[in-house]
This record gives sequence, C-alpha cells and structure tokens, in this order.
Amino acid sequence: MASSTDNTSVTWKSRWTFILAATGSAVGLGNIWKFPYITGEYGGGAFVLVYLACILLIGIPVMIAEVMAGRAGRADPAHSMKKLALESNHPPYWVLVGLIGMMAGLMIMMFYSVVAGWALEYVSQSITGQYAQQTPEEIEASFSALLASEPRQLVWHTLFSIMTGLVVAAGVTKGIGRTVDVLMPLLFICILLLIAYSFFEGDFSAGFHFMFDADFSRLSGEAVLVAMGHAFFTLSLGMGAIMAYGAYFPGNASIGKTVLAIAGMDTLIALMAGLAMFPLVFANDLTPGQGPGLMFVTLPIAFSNLPGGVVVGGIFFFLVSVAALSSSISLIEPGVAGLEKMGLPRRTSTLLLVIIAWIGGIASIQNGAVFDALDYITANIMLPLGGLLIAVFVGWVIPKPRVLTETGMSDGLAYRAWYFSLRFIAPLGIVVVFLNSLGLFKG
Ligand code: PFF
Ligand code: NA
Repeated sequence: MASSTDNTSVTWKSRWTFILAATGSAVGLGNIWKFPYITGEYGGGAFVLVYLACILLIGIPVMIAEVMAGRAGRADPAHSMKKLALESNHPPYWVLVGLIGMMAGLMIMMFYSVVAGWALEYVSQSITGQYAQQTPEEIEASFSALLASEPRQLVWHTLFSIMTGLVVAAGVTKGIGRTVDVLMPLLFICILLLIAYSFFEGDFSAGFHFMFDADFSRLSGEAVLVAMGHAFFTLSLGMGAIMAYGAYFPGNASIGKTVLAIAGMDTLIALMAGLAMFPLVFANDLTPGQGPGLMFVTLPIAFSNLPGGVVVGGIFFFLVSVAALSSSISLIEPGVAGLEKMGLPRRTSTLLLVIIAWIGGIASIQNGAVFDALDYITANIMLPLGGLLIAVFVGWVIPKPRVLTETGMSDGLAYRAWYFSLRFIAPLGIVVVFLNSLGLFKG
C-alpha cells in the first residue's frame, strides 16, 4: 500500500484531472456566445435571474448526481446507468437515459461545430486585419456575409469537426484538460480586458442595467424554459458528459465543493461575457436581441478600436475556439465510449459519430431553421428531460445509504440540502417549467 501522503497526492491529481476536464466541457460557446445572445433576446435582467436560480436549484444538484453516478458506475453513461439500475434491483431500462444522452450530444454537435467554425473564421479575420478599419455597420454586414456564405462556413465547420475527431480518436480526452489550465486563465484575462474597454468606451451603465434590472412582468413561459434549458446546456448536464468524466473522480473525495467551484466559474464567465458585450450594444445603437451574431458583431468593434486590437482579437477568438474544442470532445466522448464498450474500435466509433455530426452540421449551415431546431430541442427539451431522469434515478432509485457513501459527503446540512433538492426541488422545478411553457398555468 502507498503511504497516506501518496494517497493524498494521487487523489489530488485525479481530482485536478476531473476539474480540468469538467471545466473544459462546461466553459465554451454556451458562456461566451449563447448566454449573451439569449439574454439579449429574452429581455435581460429577469431572464438572467431565472437562469441563476436554475443553476443553483436545479443545475448544481443534478451535476453532483451526475458526477456521483459516473464515479459509481465507472463506465460510459449508458453502461453506468444500466449497471447502477441492476445493482439497485431495478430493470435495466435506465440504459435509455444514456442512449438519449448520446443522441443529444450528437445533435448539439451539429450546430456547435458550425458556431465554433465562425470563431475560427474570426481568428483568420484577425490575422488578416479584416475588421481593423471597419465601422460598426461594416462589421455587422461582414457577419451577415459570413452567414450567407455556405462554402466559407463549410470549410471552418469541417476543420473543427476534424480537430474534434482527432482528439477523441486519440483518446486524449484527459490530455486536452491540460490545455485548460493554461488557456482558460488567458481567456479570463481577455474577457476582463474587454470589460475594461466596455467600461470606458461603451455605455456601461446601460449594459449593466439591461443585465440586472429585473422586470418579471415581461417574462414569458418560453423565456423561463430557455433560461432553464441554458442552465443545463452551459453546465454540460443531462446527457452524460459530466457523468463520463465522473469516472476520473477519486474514490473517497467529496464531490460537493468541486462541483460548486466548477459551476461558479462557468457562471462567472457567462456574466462577464455579457458585461463585455452589452455596453457596446448600447453605445453603438445595435439591438440586444439581434441573435446569434451578437458576439461576432460587438467584440470586433472593441478590437477594431483598441491599440493592437487585432492581435488581442486573434488571441481571443483562438481561445474561444479552444474552449469550444474542449466542450465538443465531451459531446462526442460518451457515444464513442459506449460504442467502444460494445466492441467497436475507438477510431471507427469516432469516425462514425463525427461524420454523422458533420452531415447534420451541413444541414444547419444550409438551413437556419434546422440550426434553430437542433439548438432548441436539445437545450430546452432533451437536456432537462435527461436531467429530470438522472435526478429521479439518483434521488429515488439508488438506495439512500448508498447515495450517501457514493457522494463522499458527510451527513450534514450541505448533504441534506443537496439530497432534498435532488429529490424534490429539481424534478418538480423541471416539470413545472415544462408545463408552464405549454401555457398550463395561464389564467
Ligand atoms: N457546456 C458547453 C458550453 O457551455 O459551451 C456546451 C455543452 C458541452 C453542452 C457538453 C452539453 C455537453 F454535454
Ligand atoms: Na458553459
């Protein structure tokens, strides 16, 4: 046996591996591209508050449950669910949760890779200095031109798909986590710099009030659904990505604090991205609800005015692309691991899934309605549904005493608060938000 000091350092090392992989999965386009643009579309403050409430009351409890199930099952999500169900004397049909999750991952990849492609295009635009001398109107027109050009989007989407495939096929999912500990802090600094720019050059007060003044009277049932869906999307929950990484989590360590740190970091980066963009929206007469182009229009305005801005812009869009890559591998990985367990070689599995996602991506390049539908159905229906099933599974199917040991937490206030949220608040919350979006609570 290793001495206790060795055990501590091994535990710490593998916990760090988990933190890097899970943070890499969580922090991505969801924070920097999607959160600001849906906040703009759904009117700001009230939407942001509902989103924060969903992170706290639903996202964090479900995330702890996913990590726990992954560590206890020690396999890809589908096989972990099946194994834990059988051990709890339940029929193995819980394997379906894992299968739906793998499908959701593929479907997300079908638009995620297209947006990551836009980020790559902006790396290239930074290098060529394309937006350096442009007015805000020209910068807006240039994004529209990219959206109108299928061949240009196809090139970058293909490149990003290949990059994702290479990393997953090599099985270095853990390895990419390593780039996270260098590049994530850099991304953080870039966003801080952008906030500073927005503070001095944008309409910071208007941007701030837009994000944090809550007017609940204008909040639709759909807005609440989208806020909840985004809580799942941004934390990579409801499809087994975090469950797959849970297998790295060291046996005896407590899960709660680590999950809080990851969720906190993810939320902070999203809020900071919003604070960087909205002051520029109001200072340049842009519309907050302009949609998916928000980041690609506002930030180049900042970069075009900053001294050395194209260099900073190039670095920024490069870092966004890397953040997207460490997320996209976690979209494909659960499916690949599942196929591998069924006997298909890793490379074949990866090739198969990446090609399916690549073809779907072409459809979303050609047809904006496909893009929107994939985004809407996965984030607002499939992930919350997966999360609901995982909450019910860990909260009600796995025997109570086992849940306590498997979380590695002690039976104190924090544990009880989590277990209660998981069994009651999260499932009920998800169901109520679903029903509410169907208009069932309207007088
Ligand atoms: N959490 C990622 C983001 O915010 O960009 C997106 C994502 C990755 C969602 C992995 C789901 C997932 F399984
Ligand atoms: Na995220």
